Amino acid sequence: MTEAIKFVLPDDALPRYWYNIVADLPEPPTPVLHPGTGQPVGPADLAPLFPDAIIEQEVSAEREIEIPGPVLDVLRQWRPSPLYRARRLEKKLDTPARIYYKYEGVSPAGSHKPNTAVAQAFYNREAGVKRITTETGAGQWGSALALAGSLFGLEIEVFMVRVSFEQKPYRRAFMETFGATCVASPSDLTESGRAILKEHPDSTGSLGIAISEAVERAATRDDTKYALGSVLNHVLMHQTIIGQEALRQFELADDYPDVVIGCTGGGSNFAGIAFPFLGGKLRGEQDIEVVAVEPANCPSLTRGRYAYDFGDTAKLTPLVKMHTLGSAFVPPGFHAGGLRYHGMAPLVSQLTHLGEIKPRAYSQAECFEAGVLFARSEGIIPAPEANHAVKGAIDEALACRESGEARAILFNLCGHGNFDMQAYTDYFAGKLSDQPYDEAELAMALAGLPVVETG
Ligand SMILES: Cc1ncc(COP(=O)(O)O)c(C=O)c1O
Repeated sequence: MTEAIKFVLPDDALPRYWYNIVADLPEPPTPVLHPGTGQPVGPADLAPLFPDAIIEQEVSAEREIEIPGPVLDVLRQWRPSPLYRARRLEKKLDTPARIYYKYEGVSPAGSHKPNTAVAQAFYNREAGVKRITTETGAGQWGSALALAGSLFGLEIEVFMVRVSFEQKPYRRAFMETFGATCVASPSDLTESGRAILKEHPDSTGSLGIAISEAVERAATRDDTKYALGSVLNHVLMHQTIIGQEALRQFELADDYPDVVIGCTGGGSNFAGIAFPFLGGKLRGEQDIEVVAVEPANCPSLTRGRYAYDFGDTAKLTPLVKMHTLGSAFVPPGFHAGGLRYHGMAPLVSQLTHLGEIKPRAYSQAECFEAGVLFARSEGIIPAPEANHAVKGAIDEALACRESGEARAILFNLCGHGNFDMQAYTDYFAGKLSDQPYDEAELAMALAGLPVVETG
């Protein structure tokens, strides 16, 4: 094994295909249902929101889907992203474990989100679309789509969850620099937003509410489509470029991970790093343990129900089978805004249900403690979302210290936290309260899950 700390691939090693785990699932993926009929949705139901090429990818069972040249041309600017060996962190933890992290913060928006934003902007531009609406939690996805929109000549409108809009003014400025419009959600621009504001004038917002607003705008304008930054099959697939690069980088390191860890909001960065490895396991090629880390205050995988639910609060989307806290659930306003989503990607949910993914939940204070330890060892300040994966990796490494096992741990450092310094300031000032979610509200949201006959 080399003493290297950085494993870098040449430009021409950029993957040419996205990996679709649907081809390797032990059972078919769960169908997406029309809420009115309870029947599987067809392409015509999705056409007001997405261009045909995206709809085809959403339902595809092909193992590999070719990445278009113009998408590769943009991604090549920062990809392949580096894989690091965290040797200083290993020393600090006094662990026999080998800790590796794939760093997605090298993208111009600072996270993994441009991997799919660029692809989605490209397909929309090809279909003659002029405007795209979207939601954003922490601002990372909105930033990524703003950037991709400006590269492909599209107008972008972003509904940003109000609590993050207030916490992260520079994210808004980032989006505006690329010509996008950024609106605090709930807003008075949509029926869904006005309905929420009428009942809860001080609503902090949530990803579920912001999705409703963005979907409503796209569904009611002919020149406008919608883009989602996570959850859907095609988004997870666009992110698999991360794990495919990591597989090649582990060859350079002459090593292979025993465990792969990612944080989960809607599931896309986690799937991006984990699915190419998990696919190998499902095909019987290599064993691997896969851990999904979520916030204790929005614990869809560890506390949610595996059931059909709406993807948004106003119930405008089709029904998907996923781990959900109920679409009416509004999580408390903690700092990892990208993880404040009531549901989880159907593919991540199904694989968790099948026992292939182990979910784990942590409070935000313990995640920031881990993030600061990481920053002081490795020199990179993680995004608050990524701190969940950092905490998961540190716990694995500490377990190795106890057991004496020298396991290889890989985690996705899915974004930097350079726009999230208020969160760190609050943490250092002891102001990061872990306000728990309301159990009664969760019970009510779960009781309100739609009843679906799946004959
Ligand atoms: C840095 C970062 N990590 C993770 C997430 C969560 O999304 P996902 O689970 O789709 O990766 C977000 C979402 O905004 C994010 O900005």
